[in-house]
Amino acid sequence: MQNPKHGFATRAIHDGQQPDAQTGAVNVPIYLTSTYQQEEIGKHKGHEYARLTNPTRDALEVSLCSLEGGTSAHCFASGMAALTALCTMMRAGDHVVCSDNVYGGTSRLFNQVLSGYGIAFTYVDTSDPANVARALRPETRLVHIETPTNPMMTLTDIAAVAEVCHASGVELSVDNTFLSPYLQQPIALGADIVMHSTTKFLNGHSDGLGGVLVGTRPEHAERFRYVQKCTGGILSPFESYLLLRGVKTLAVRMRQHDANGRVVAEFLRRHPRVRQVYYPGLAEHPQHALALRQQTGFGSMITIETGSRENANALVRRLRLAVLAESLGGVETLVCHPATMTHAALGAEGRARLGITDGLLRLSVGIEDVADILADLDQALAGMP
Ligand SMILES: Cc1ncc(COP(=O)(O)O)c(C=O)c1O
Repeated sequence: MQNPKHGFATRAIHDGQQPDAQTGAVNVPIYLTSTYQQEEIGKHKGHEYARLTNPTRDALEVSLCSLEGGTSAHCFASGMAALTALCTMMRAGDHVVCSDNVYGGTSRLFNQVLSGYGIAFTYVDTSDPANVARALRPETRLVHIETPTNPMMTLTDIAAVAEVCHASGVELSVDNTFLSPYLQQPIALGADIVMHSTTKFLNGHSDGLGGVLVGTRPEHAERFRYVQKCTGGILSPFESYLLLRGVKTLAVRMRQHDANGRVVAEFLRRHPRVRQVYYPGLAEHPQHALALRQQTGFGSMITIETGSRENANALVRRLRLAVLAESLGGVETLVCHPATMTHAALGAEGRARLGITDGLLRLSVGIEDVADILADLDQALAGMP
């Protein structure tokens, strides 16, 4: 729950993280224990076994719940583990509507694993809420969206889609990984559940995997706690600590990511060798007005079209500062080639449908000195044929 008296940056540092009652330690300790002493049969201090609860993870869950404005948060071993836990709300025969342009691992989980359990998935362009309304069926239980989408940076109007969902008694989950709660608050806009790959901006230092589900109803808390206990895909104490530590600086990091993102996007927009820039912060982005309305910043995820795989490869081979790697949201600038990395599982046809060409590169602009990032990109672009 939020401490409503405090602002975001204060809550990121203090919520769930009071000094240790026994020792006064300012930081939440890493509780490396698999079990807990019980005083007598049926009497314990609130912890029985570490798959169920761990004080380090508990503190993290309180913190993330506060930042997303939910009523519960449950952490898992990765973003995919969190999404899998979310999908345990479904039963055979249920139907899910999903944004057509999501992280490749999301559609892979849905198509290659969960469809085998009798759950049906329909993919639509959720940037038009009418498409969502048309795709709903009597057996639809969930609409799952990513905004901005990965990697095409298309936005979905969260409030409008929430209205469509709620009119039919369907829940809306939002993958808020690309913006973090600092730049976008899906629950305040009407979403029922928020999920993250905490591996990205929430952790912020490219040193730990994780995932979280933030719920808004008692049934969410009950279900996700129960799934943690039954399936065991929980976040470890050490990774919980890393994430707590990362989250403390989320506000300052996101401010710098956002500032650097804007400068880099403008530089790329003007660069003669870049054919197209996808960034909701640019005035020419078709959903710039929506970005201004539903986000408090534009973030640092930028996708560019270089024209061909050869051009993209020539660029990344010359990078000296930015790193060619999967993932995003770290303090360092990362560059990814969606066609062979995040969206390889879609196949050539699936990628073509979404406009994911072999020449696309996705940048996660870090918080280095922006002049150094620009200089690196400039010299790398100069080597492009
Ligand atoms: C938007 C988004 N959602 C979910 C995931 C999956 O998270 P993880 O890699 O932590 O399992 C990713 C990973 O790249 C992602 O980018």
